[in-house]
Amino acid sequence: MAIKRSSDQGKPTQESSSPGKPRNELLQSNPTPEETSSNEDNLRPQRLADYIGQKDLKALLSIAIQAAKQRGEAMDHLLLYGPPGLGKTTISLILATEMDVACKITAAPALERPRDITGLLVNLNPGDVLFIDEIHRLNRITEELLYPAMEDGRLDITVGKGQSAKTRSIPLAPFTLVGATTRVGSLTSPLRDRFGMVQRLQFYQLDELTEIVTRTAKVLETEIVEAGASEIAARSRGTPRIANRLLKRVRDYAQVKQLGAISQSVAEEALELFQVDKMGLDWTDRLILNTMIEQFHGGPVGLDAIAAATGEDRLTIEDVYEPYLLQIGFIQRTPRGRMVTERTMEHLGY
Ligand code: ADE
Repeated sequence: MAIKRSSDQGKPTQESSSPGKPRNELLQSNPTPEETSSNEDNLRPQRLADYIGQKDLKALLSIAIQAAKQRGEAMDHLLLYGPPGLGKTTISLILATEMDVACKITAAPALERPRDITGLLVNLNPGDVLFIDEIHRLNRITEELLYPAMEDGRLDITVGKGQSAKTRSIPLAPFTLVGATTRVGSLTSPLRDRFGMVQRLQFYQLDELTEIVTRTAKVLETEIVEAGASEIAARSRGTPRIANRLLKRVRDYAQVKQLGAISQSVAEEALELFQVDKMGLDWTDRLILNTMIEQFHGGPVGLDAIAAATGEDRLTIEDVYEPYLLQIGFIQRTPRGRMVTERTMEHLGY
């Protein structure tokens, strides 16, 4: 199928050369260990129909994919935001599979020099998906190269210096940029405005996570009963990446102790051993909350003070730990800082 943008009517289009199989490439350097693990890749659903949860987002994408396919165009650019581990990369890979194109994966810290992004853009085939993780971290020059690329399908590069400098425009194949970020507020508005779809990923419900754990156990050929899957799901902080990680730890435990299928009690025992409590809080969550209670009288206290007292990075607290603690009502944000709640005190046994 020839893929073009509606604004590209007269431009040459090329046949997309990937019938059937997804051609997804991991191009770049800075993904987190979980994201590079081939294991996680094996566990990812390949098709939208196999993707569990994010119902509204799935419905929107399903329409966007079908519409783009019917018109023979690249899908509109998509910005995904929300806490880590909720499936931004997976969705990008699924989009490429559904559109029968390649997905090139990179992250903003790997796009330091102008030639990093230009090299990627000029090598895209018609309709390809370009996934940029941590897109809020793009530098200004790279970001400005993206504007005309996203809007008009061209790359504007400056050749020469000073008086003799000239701008050259290179036409690009129509493509879909999928940007992912944990902090949508840090994106500049010109960049944000160039995405046709801006979607937030939500934390997953217990039944969705139970289904994900059950599905992953099947892929890993691990026997699990429903109550075992549900116990792992309940301690996964609404996050599939954590659910799958915990499942693997519980599976190790069941195997080494020769306990057979993962039952609720096996999951409970294993997760107690790994210090993941009933609410899914781990050692660092408890350190943050205990510090707020014991050193700051439960707050209000600023993020920098919490970071200094716990030795954790401020951004990690804000992007990784805090969203779930806010979601379950263990932390409140006030104009004067963060506060713990009654529920926190009860849960931690104060
Ligand atoms: N594995 C990780 N996330 C998933 C999801 N949302 N649906 C199915 N399997 C998954």
